[in-house]
Amino acid sequence: SQDACNGRVEILADAEAVAVAAADFLTAQAVAKQGPFVIALSGGSTPKRLYEILASSAYASRFPWDRVQLFFGDERFVPPGDESSNYHMTNLALLSKVPVPSANVHRMPTDGDPADAAARYQRELHTQYGAVTLESGRPLFDVVLLGLGENGHTASLFPRTDILQETQAWVGTCVPDDAPHTRLSLTYPAIASSRFVVFLVAGAGKADVVKAVRGGDTDLPSTHITTDGELIWMLDKAAAGTVSNG
Ligand code: 6PG
Repeated sequence: SQDACNGRVEILADAEAVAVAAADFLTAQAVAKQGPFVIALSGGSTPKRLYEILASSAYASRFPWDRVQLFFGDERFVPPGDESSNYHMTNLALLSKVPVPSANVHRMPTDGDPADAAARYQRELHTQYGAVTLESGRPLFDVVLLGLGENGHTASLFPRTDILQETQAWVGTCVPDDAPHTRLSLTYPAIASSRFVVFLVAGAGKADVVKAVRGGDTDLPSTHITTDGELIWMLDKAAAGTVSNG
């Protein structure tokens, strides 16, 4: 197992190269895996470019869309057509363009009460996993994609919020004190049940927070991310700053 401080670092030239590296990684892993390939998608700008690349014919023709199961790592509690919805972005960039069966796309519900919606999504994950408790040696996700916010949040695990204390539930709600919208998010234990966690981070604006997380600053939610498998940072040069490869 690995955590955010000791995971492997790959430094790429720029944001475009990060998106290409992530597309290559996902495609290679998906092709190599037998049976369902389960991904937790992230929101944000770097993944948007990754999704566009996966939708391009060179990638889409190789990707095993019929056996991919797409979940979301987090979502703003807004309708699925809202500009700020991660589902909306993912649908425009990827889902509407590739032959993924609609039954394989697991959008986070954003109707009714947020806590109830989190419970419903958790049940959907239980169904995928075939059990209601996580077993060691049997990961829930093949790959969890994550971004990194300048305040150290990842998925919708924001600083100073109750979801950071969650040790049992797989999905929870989060009301950030420094960002709009109530959120749903995977919890630390759900993210940890993974073969790979991949952080995609680009831009000079992220260099300080990358350094702080790699340095083990415990005030930052991203520092507490762990995986039973391998943790990989895909950084562009600007985000890497003084952090080195390896
Ligand atoms: C979201 C994300 C969030 C994101 C970071 C970084 O829905 O906002 O899942 O955790 O990954 O805020 O976002 P950028 O990559 O756009 O900087």
